[in-house]
Amino acid sequence: MEFLDELRSLKDQIRFNGRFEIPEGTKNVVIAGMGGSGIVGRIFSELYSEIPVSIVDDYRAPDFVGKETLYIAISYSGNTEETIDSVNDAKAKGAITLAITSGGKLAKLADKTVVIPKGLNPRSALGYMLAPLATSFGIAGDKEIDEAYKLLNELDENNEAEKGIAREIYSNESIPVIYGIAPYKAVAYRWKTQFSENAKVLAYSSSFPELNHNDTMSLDGTYRKGEFYFMAFTDGENPKVERRIGITENLTGIGLRRINAKGTSAFARMMWLVHEGDYITFHLAVLRGKNPANVAIIEQLKKELGKQI
Ligand code: PA5
Repeated sequence: MEFLDELRSLKDQIRFNGRFEIPEGTKNVVIAGMGGSGIVGRIFSELYSEIPVSIVDDYRAPDFVGKETLYIAISYSGNTEETIDSVNDAKAKGAITLAITSGGKLAKLADKTVVIPKGLNPRSALGYMLAPLATSFGIAGDKEIDEAYKLLNELDENNEAEKGIAREIYSNESIPVIYGIAPYKAVAYRWKTQFSENAKVLAYSSSFPELNHNDTMSLDGTYRKGEFYFMAFTDGENPKVERRIGITENLTGIGLRRINAKGTSAFARMMWLVHEGDYITFHLAVLRGKNPANVAIIEQLKKELGKQI
């Protein structure tokens, strides 16, 4: 599938029916995953907080993991070393394990598996991986999914504005700086990773209000100030945060391009922001003459790690 078609499939992916039962007695949830799969847990954890949700992006499961833990491992390929090791660790600690994957070793390892369609780049399968969580934990119903579908479709039909932002970044060879706000802090990080993998451009992300307690000093005092392209998410919901953004600009002399999330539900806004970043990074890749699908070095690294020592 062409990379652009992968992007265009996101709206259908969020309708994927991968609902699963939350085991009775679950007191905490851990979501493990790396890269394009790992971002799904981070995004989910900002929308759901009825019981504690922890994120794992490494080899080990946390020490608190036990019988009352639902340990969800997300790996598109099902073969990511860190994720597999952490599931083995979680099982040894007594957790109930669930995998969201298109196959691989993980599909056979977990107590239960939600099998999602194959054939995409992992980072393009965000909808397939998020939908089972969103529906099973009740953070998105038909209404929110329909709203998100409509907004994603609009972006698929017209992404000239996103191409324009990509052009601005490209024309100055700028380093993208993405500032998120709750509940889209993980989406800011998603953009950073999409700039890396799709456009092959190193980017930086942080979030309001935390960045006001550190970045504010470097926004004012860093060297090569002109080399960055500053963006901040807004959604019109939190006047305190909006005020902060304005004050930050005044105090540091930095102009932050607002990325105003579209939609009414948090889920739809989140998906719109995700897709906005997909298109900006896709267009930047094209402008740079880079293949957005190419992750050859990541694949080579996995191969080398997989060699017996
Ligand atoms: O986007 C990518 O290709 C990577 O970030 C992968 O998602 C990452 O290497 C983990 O692989 P997987 O998603 O198959 O677990």
